Amino acid sequence: ERVVLAYSGGVDTTVCIPYLKNEFGVKEVITLAADLGQGEELGPIQEKALAAGVMESLVEDLTETFITDYAFPAIQANALYENRYPLSTALARPLIAKALVAAAEKYGADAVAHGCTGKGNDQVRFDVAIAGLNPNLKVLAPAREWGMSREEAIAYGEKFGLTFPVKKSSPYSIDRNLLGRSVEAGILENPWTEPPEEVYALTKAIKDTPDEPEYIEINFEAGIPVGLNGNSLDPVELITQLNTLAGTHGIGRLDMIENRLVGIKSREIYETPALLVLIAAHRDLESLTLNANVTQYKRGIEQTYSELVYNGLWFSPLKAALDAFIQQTQARVAGTIRLKLFKGNATIVGRTSPNALYTEELATYGADDKFDHKAAEGFIYVWGLPTRIWSEKLR
Ligand code: ARG
Ligand code: SIN
Repeated sequence: ERVVLAYSGGVDTTVCIPYLKNEFGVKEVITLAADLGQGEELGPIQEKALAAGVMESLVEDLTETFITDYAFPAIQANALYENRYPLSTALARPLIAKALVAAAEKYGADAVAHGCTGKGNDQVRFDVAIAGLNPNLKVLAPAREWGMSREEAIAYGEKFGLTFPVKKSSPYSIDRNLLGRSVEAGILENPWTEPPEEVYALTKAIKDTPDEPEYIEINFEAGIPVGLNGNSLDPVELITQLNTLAGTHGIGRLDMIENRLVGIKSREIYETPALLVLIAAHRDLESLTLNANVTQYKRGIEQTYSELVYNGLWFSPLKAALDAFIQQTQARVAGTIRLKLFKGNATIVGRTSPNALYTEELATYGADDKFDHKAAEGFIYVWGLPTRIWSEKLR
């Protein structure tokens, strides 16, 4: 048996290597480490996997695909799970699953494996995405069955000659990629406990942010961010720069209790500076360029989309159908949004678009008003007719 294992270099996924061999009878383990812009050296991770006895240690740079094919569509969808969480972790899972499946097919593996626990969303996202891409592949999830604490997992690894750096490991569970950080566990498990400053890495505390606001402009084409302050930027560069700009002003923190698919409520701290700013800016540009009924109908689509992505249905027929709707709406979502970054807030202060449906001579209260006020009278008569009839029957 040959298995491709999603590998992060952490304790759990490293212990998965001997565990797959000794408890699952797997002959050959191939690890796959996906670079999603987590800002971490993947070279040592490769060495670590080889030291743990894998047949092959793959490292794939998927950062650009992650932004282009996963983050940008989510921005076009204004995707916020439960109206708040911009899905920074959830979006990475279908891409990692896709890379796992491709590697399994290339190397003739019978199964793929991941290190997720049995309590989370991530296991669902991996398993269902893999099934959606290749239903013939088995999925092995050692950490879902081994029932070991962290200490026991380390002891298990040591039994097979693995060594773990003595550095005191973080008291938190952290997931990181170019879109942001998700932090849970430790003292954060008490929802009454304020997150200490140490949980944050991408955003400054308000007391340390600049005392002067900073104005920025984001340029969009077809619903996709393409530039900052008039400079065209490639997707990865744009997210990177915007993370720094917004993070410097303390923008992008979120502390929420969320509903996991498996029925558990969990408390998670998110830092997603660029993503939150881009969704707010994109939504504002849609208000300027889309018709009222399209905008309003799309809000319902967006909620369903966010739930599908959170719940692991990235590769599914309903998701594909929603994608088609969203794409259809985006062609004319182009223009520039101006924001003021200051003390934790990204406030939209201006917007402009060659496709703006906003018409100043209709909106104005000034002398150059072109709106036909008299036409409103007949319109209101017809619009209000059902209410008038209803009211008369009640008298
Ligand atoms: N709750 C988030 C989600 O479901 C993040 C999960 C991973 N978080 C973590 N701290 N390991 O997308
Ligand atoms: C895990 O349990 O593997 C991480 C948390 C989650 O997936 O929601």
